[in-house]
Amino acid sequence: MGNILNQAKTLKKNSAIGIIGGGQLGRMTCFAAHAMGFRTVVFTDSSNSSATFVSNQVIVADYQDKEALKKFASMVDVATFEFENIPFSTIDFLHQYVDVCPNSQVLKITQNRLLEKDFLNAIGAKTTEYSEVKTLQDLQKGIKDFSAAILKTAAMGYDGKGQFVIKSENDIAKIWPEAEKTLATNQLILEKFCPFNSEISVIIARSIFEEIAVYEPLTNIHKNGILDESHFPAKVSEAVKNKAQELAKKIAVEINLVGVLAVEMFVIEDQILVNELAPRPHNSGHFSMDASVTSQFEQLIRAISGLPLGSTKFHSTGHMKNLIGDEVNDLENFYKNQNAKIHLYGKDEVKKDRKMGHINIINY
Ligand SMILES: Nc1ncnc2c1ncn2[C@@H]1O[C@H](COP(=O)(O)OP(=O)(O)O)[C@@H](O)[C@H]1O
Ligand SMILES: [Mg+2]
Repeated sequence: MGNILNQAKTLKKNSAIGIIGGGQLGRMTCFAAHAMGFRTVVFTDSSNSSATFVSNQVIVADYQDKEALKKFASMVDVATFEFENIPFSTIDFLHQYVDVCPNSQVLKITQNRLLEKDFLNAIGAKTTEYSEVKTLQDLQKGIKDFSAAILKTAAMGYDGKGQFVIKSENDIAKIWPEAEKTLATNQLILEKFCPFNSEISVIIARSIFEEIAVYEPLTNIHKNGILDESHFPAKVSEAVKNKAQELAKKIAVEINLVGVLAVEMFVIEDQILVNELAPRPHNSGHFSMDASVTSQFEQLIRAISGLPLGSTKFHSTGHMKNLIGDEVNDLENFYKNQNAKIHLYGKDEVKKDRKMGHINIINY
């Protein structure tokens, strides 16, 4: 896969970093960019989003609005995106006017679970078994092959949304009517249920000059399909840690990453299966903000602005806890913990399952 960068260059201070998407990842990317002397321009389709309150400039427009995209491109020296549900055509269009890192090919693969798993298996990174489901017959056959499985929308899923757990053939009739409806706009993928011992993730950065920096893995604990906590160090053997980091490096190089990529993995004994990729800073990487020499957000800015990458060393152990929905109302208690570093996303309205912030608990 060729590099689509127009020009690999190191940005001067006061250059403008464009961020497509207005969520908390964009917000924290802005903080890192500002600390490094860059300006930010956020492109979002919602005026009331986390990143809009902290960016130097904001463009609020539809992601398909070509005039607005051209204007955005003219305002920035390089651009990145903070979530992978941006239309592929948006990033592809922007490539004519400005370098977007990661490039549209990386986005294309990582925004579709089928393409992503095809890519991973093609480069020798193992995943759970999977098949595309176009009809009820496909699903019935898949459940025969896999027994327990999860049916997922191939695109646009996050935080466990668009997923149907199928424990036996008896569940098919219950979930099919709703799953079938999604076929009008989305593909469906059936994934064999993976009886993992634990889930880990590795965050990796690769710069426009192809320098690589990889973090050690963290153990992730999910509740209702949403990440709840990430622990460092990961509770896996040294061999698994090394294997996980080597796997992340291989993926980053093969996909021709420029930016930050998270690799979510299932660990079964000493075996690793890749669950999914996220071509951006990741929720499980938030612990790096307070416990590593270089946060994942600073690393992203370094990677796309042509600066040397920073050390990924974690100087502290501990864990990250997401504040989901009304958990954020317990702030007073968190502040009483002197080892808690609190990060809020500037969201007014508390909603069930909404990520409102996170805290990093630092051990010594
Ligand atoms: N094939 C699977 N086997 C077992 N658990 C799974 C499987 N797929 C997903 N899960 C569980 O659901 C969580 C969310 O699924 P994931 O595919 O990562 O989607 P999302 O894009 O919503 O994060 C995973 O972190 C894992 O805990
Ligand atoms: Mg996931």
